[in-house]
Amino acid sequence: MLHVSDLTKRFGGIIAVNGVSLEIRKGEIVGLIGPNGSGKTTLINLIAGFYKADSGRIIFEGVDITKKTADERVKLGIARTFQIPRVIGNMTAWQNVTYAVIGSRRFKEKKMTLTEASMEALYYLDIVGLLRKRDVLCRDLPIYELRLVELARALALNPKFIMVDEVMAGLNPVEADNVARLVQRLREEFKLTTMWVEHVLRIIMRSVERVVVMNEGKIIADGEPREVAKDVGVIKAYMGEEVVI
Ligand SMILES: Nc1ncnc2c1ncn2[C@@H]1O[C@H](COP(=O)(O)OP(=O)(O)O)[C@@H](O)[C@H]1O
Ligand SMILES: [Mg+2]
Repeated sequence: MLHVSDLTKRFGGIIAVNGVSLEIRKGEIVGLIGPNGSGKTTLINLIAGFYKADSGRIIFEGVDITKKTADERVKLGIARTFQIPRVIGNMTAWQNVTYAVIGSRRFKEKKMTLTEASMEALYYLDIVGLLRKRDVLCRDLPIYELRLVELARALALNPKFIMVDEVMAGLNPVEADNVARLVQRLREEFKLTTMWVEHVLRIIMRSVERVVVMNEGKIIADGEPREVAKDVGVIKAYMGEEVVI
């Protein structure tokens, strides 16, 4: 579904993403882990089209999207969540998700009315378990629920492929478990392919079938979580790396 080849992005002297090649198959939930500053969010930004790559190519469902705008990539079915939720604080959860539906192609092409958009937003809020909180202003929601609003907003774009950026950070174990189950349910319900970025392997270990490890802009491991955990142990021993399992 997604082929990334030899992707590089520099910020001044820093090579944030350094020759990354990655393939994600349809229906997979791939975990992407790595220490802070290893380039995970930059990779999401490159795939989503928020940054332009210095070199390399990104092919999505057979289409070269390397030079396409972020908007064009959304139309092709690519969505993402933000590490720091980008909701509008003085709008309710429902309004925020409705706003996202209105931003979708179907609304812009006048294939749905405002009422339909707001009804569809309720559906996404229900999926993520936030129906009861729909009328709460986002500035009054705790981080866990803001993350759920972010997921609902991403769903509102009707994606085929979703990139989730550190959705578990700062959550308690029960909340983290709920999010993990939700991500898995979304795959079933929406036939989503998922790239799930987290800082540590431990929390996504049981929820993904494949893990890719980034370090200093490069991919240093790719495989089943159990194998990668062993690998990462070795890498840590050699490099004295920050704990990533
Ligand atoms: N917009 C930016 N401008 C300058 N440097 C950036 C920018 N975004 C990321 N970086 C740098 O690129 C590297 C990778 O960052 P990032 O992709 O955010 O890592 P991660 O998400 O794995 O923590 C870091 O050194 C970071 O400081
Ligand atoms: Mg990040």
